[in-house]
Amino acid sequence: MDNYILVTGGAGYIGSHMTLALQAAGERPLVIDDLSAGLRRAVPEGVPLFEGSVGDSDFVGDIMDRHPIAAIIHFAASVVVPESVAQPLAYYRNNTANARTLIDCAVQRRIPHVVFSSTAAVYGEPDRNPIGEDQPTQPINPYGRSKLMVEWMLGDVARAHPLSYAALRYFNVAGADPDGRAGQSSPNATHLIKIAVQAALGKRDGLDVFGTDYPTADGSCIRDYVHVADLVAAHLDALRYLRAGHPSVTCNIGYASGYSVLQVIEVVKRVSGVDFPVRLQGRRAGDPAALVAANERAKTLLGWTPRYDDLETIVRHALAWERRLGA
Ligand code: UFG
Repeated sequence: MDNYILVTGGAGYIGSHMTLALQAAGERPLVIDDLSAGLRRAVPEGVPLFEGSVGDSDFVGDIMDRHPIAAIIHFAASVVVPESVAQPLAYYRNNTANARTLIDCAVQRRIPHVVFSSTAAVYGEPDRNPIGEDQPTQPINPYGRSKLMVEWMLGDVARAHPLSYAALRYFNVAGADPDGRAGQSSPNATHLIKIAVQAALGKRDGLDVFGTDYPTADGSCIRDYVHVADLVAAHLDALRYLRAGHPSVTCNIGYASGYSVLQVIEVVKRVSGVDFPVRLQGRRAGDPAALVAANERAKTLLGWTPRYDDLETIVRHALAWERRLGA
């Protein structure tokens, strides 16, 4: 295949797994990343990396003019819910305005397909779980709103221009490449499984549980943790689906099984064999009580077939990567 697949945020946690999966599938990835969260060394040998912002239309347009692009997979974004509550304008710029620029560049050059990293945060506090894609979107934090606006933009653009898209609403992405080639490297990560494995390896002094008075069985929040390798596989499935000429689609990517924060901590303790300190704290801003995906649409329409639907496996791979990162 001659044309490139443009991966924005390809030096980041999920993007780095994506470039490996694209290479393995015989595709030619090309990465744009501003390296604000991503790492140069996370981009595999031989994959072109352009350092800059997807919100810079001259920069993006120039890359597109010099490289034929078959599709865009757009990961580059800010992803920390409490940070979005404190700095909403940064999220609306980075996640919403910059996506508009990228999509505009794509439309001008007739790039036919976009796979967009959306999020379960678009549902807000859902009326029921597992959540179907047709349930109302009513985000409760700026992060979710910044992403939902991009879904709307894509919907309008796909009606007006020759472009089809897949919006993948990720639930809680975790774990690392099963072969140990990639993982979550950011030392400032805030996500639960990353923090818990760091605590297990003595890289941090235990862990805070944010909220134990939610309306759940043990009072802590419930999430649907999806292995990063299955998540990137869903993007390959989405690309295949769009290239086959199917219409735009919005799909949840999760396993339809939820675990509470306290259950996750138990699994990390059991798999690591380490009993680290756990402090019960008050709620964190912007957290819904429970988010669990209904996933029939991804399975049926995209042909998504999860391979790592097992919390212990996710934790084992996250631990292996954290060990590899060293102190
Ligand atoms: N949590 C703790 N202690 C920590 C870190 C997290 O108790 O040190 C709790 C959170 O309060 C929350 C749960 O663990 O209840 C999961 O929190 P994460 O920060 O790992 O993830 P979020 O659910 O906030 O958000 C993530 C992604 C979003 C995505 C969302 C969908 O960051 O992009 O999952 O469920 F939208």
